[in-house]
Amino acid sequence: MKELPQKLPVHLGIIMDGNGRWAKKRGLPRSAGHAAGAQNFRKITRYCSQIGIRYLTVYAFSTENWTRPQEEVSALMRLFRQYLEEALRDFRDDDIVVRFLGDVSAFSAPLRELITETQELSANRSGMVLNIAMNYGGRAELTHAFQVLARRVQEGSLRPEDITEERISSALYTAGQPDPDLIIRPSGEHRTSNFLLWQSAYAEYVIMDILWPDFRPADLDAALREYANRSRRFGGI
Ligand code: FPP
Repeated sequence: MKELPQKLPVHLGIIMDGNGRWAKKRGLPRSAGHAAGAQNFRKITRYCSQIGIRYLTVYAFSTENWTRPQEEVSALMRLFRQYLEEALRDFRDDDIVVRFLGDVSAFSAPLRELITETQELSANRSGMVLNIAMNYGGRAELTHAFQVLARRVQEGSLRPEDITEERISSALYTAGQPDPDLIIRPSGEHRTSNFLLWQSAYAEYVIMDILWPDFRPADLDAALREYANRSRRFGGI
């Protein structure tokens, strides 16, 4: 087994993509792909916490995913409830802090309650911070942040010239967290899909030709090795 590199990303983002294709290849309904993807979410999250990742952000449901067939959206909502209940238990053993990024007001009352409970019960832990992006979109997040800042300008507590990059960062769902260092996209697609648009300005991307339900800890290790070998210059030389 190859060793993990010393230089790990502090904040890792994962776009959990390819559930539908995974199911199609097996002649299964798309919901079966999402169920397999949710199992894998649990496994990879625990693995990230065990190897010392400090922040993990996973993309679970985008603001655009509501346009999928009603049956698929309902299956995903059922999975979120089931897995959040299970995750409440196993993430407790790993001391994981769970946060949600996105407009959760769009979800059903029972799911919203579970989200609140999960956040409250885990808030005082000291382990890895897991951000679950649900009903999340980078553009929607920025729009929300600009509205918050515009309201403060209107009230007179902020001058337009005091709107800095730091203030914008502080108005995002990820306020107080470092920007992602590495974003992994399984399933081979080469696009950001509206994920952490502002925060990923200098993130390294690793695209892998593996569908999310097949993505194993060894694949994560390979992505981490590739990241460790990248030279990050942040626009400098
Ligand atoms: C993208 O694959 C995946 C999703 C839209 C859903 C991801 C959700 C999970 C893995 C469940 C996570 C569970 C919790 C509790 C966070 P796709 O359907 O777009 O795949 P395709 O591109 O192959 O069609």
